[in-house]
Amino acid sequence: MGLTCNIANQRITFAAQFRYMLDKVEELIQEVKSLQAESAEIAENLRIKYLGQKGLVKGLFAEFRNVPHESKKEFGQRLNQLKNLAEEKIAELKSLTENESGSAQNELNDLTLPGVEVPVGSRHPLSLVRQEIIDIFTRIGFTISEGPEVEDDWHNFTALNFPEEHPARDMQDTFFVKNKFSDEELALRTHTSSVQVRVMESQEPPIRTISPGRVFRNEAISARAHCMFHQIEGLYIDKDVSFADMKQTLLYFAQEFFGADAKIRLRPSYFPFTEPSAEVDVWWGLENESDYRITKGTGWLEIMGCGMVDPNVLKNCNIDPEVYSGYAFGMGIERIAMNKYGINDLRMYFENDVRFLRQFSGATH
Ligand code: PHE
Repeated sequence: MGLTCNIANQRITFAAQFRYMLDKVEELIQEVKSLQAESAEIAENLRIKYLGQKGLVKGLFAEFRNVPHESKKEFGQRLNQLKNLAEEKIAELKSLTENESGSAQNELNDLTLPGVEVPVGSRHPLSLVRQEIIDIFTRIGFTISEGPEVEDDWHNFTALNFPEEHPARDMQDTFFVKNKFSDEELALRTHTSSVQVRVMESQEPPIRTISPGRVFRNEAISARAHCMFHQIEGLYIDKDVSFADMKQTLLYFAQEFFGADAKIRLRPSYFPFTEPSAEVDVWWGLENESDYRITKGTGWLEIMGCGMVDPNVLKNCNIDPEVYSGYAFGMGIERIAMNKYGINDLRMYFENDVRFLRQFSGATH
């Protein structure tokens, strides 16, 4: 008996509470209809009061689950009505007040006022240097070629005369990529010489091309090394191309890039794909402490590797080494840009710090 009574009592309480909430909705509907706002700020405050995350309308929606089942429909309809009304009304107040401040802004049409500075982006130093190098070589007839960043063993190593056991093929240097469609082993290219193989395979000499692009090596990241950097490699294949031709082209490049009085020297070196091979240094100077540091006390700065294309490489690409010869060279854009702009930490290129990047907004290209 007591139990039934209790349940009945509870019913009464629910019903009373429901009536109260319904009245509250009606009250708010009237209130919303007569809302006024003198400024955009007041309109925004009204929006927060009625429609905000903790606003009155949200609060009533939260009560919805307490409404007795048979009244849910009626309550829901009125509540939605309130919500729509509030949205319309507040949007109207907003557009009215914002237009007003808009007309206040028109008073700013005083043409003698100083203008507002529009921030302009700048090119990345690597893009600037890349473009400058490309311009220097395209002026003397080099074309631009590009190729895939994920390469097969043939184009990155084998065609370039890397012996099977060459350390560059090691996990230590190369990022290998699993190909889920076949057993073929792929790698992130370690240099853009791979593009040159593709060009030689698909074009007849004479070939005169440069290949700019991203390359990847498994190196610990530090001020002087990164696992990703940019290269520009060059290739020239024709009849009777000599080492002297290469030297003259590289001197032309150095003088265009570093200034008319730039000097270069070639030091013997080794690359599997060139024979003979050399390292190119440019004269930097040895006048102060920073020159000492940058050039390791020699005054010369190493800027690229080069050499005469090995006959084996030509053969691998179906070019007859008895008829044709050629030279190749390759340089790292980061390294060259570091020297040009006095940047001493490679990591700065990739941090996207606007304080660093803004310094190049005055540079051309
Ligand atoms: N491929 C070489 C490297 O990545 C550079 C190079 C290119 C050297 C062509 C000689 C000739 O270091």
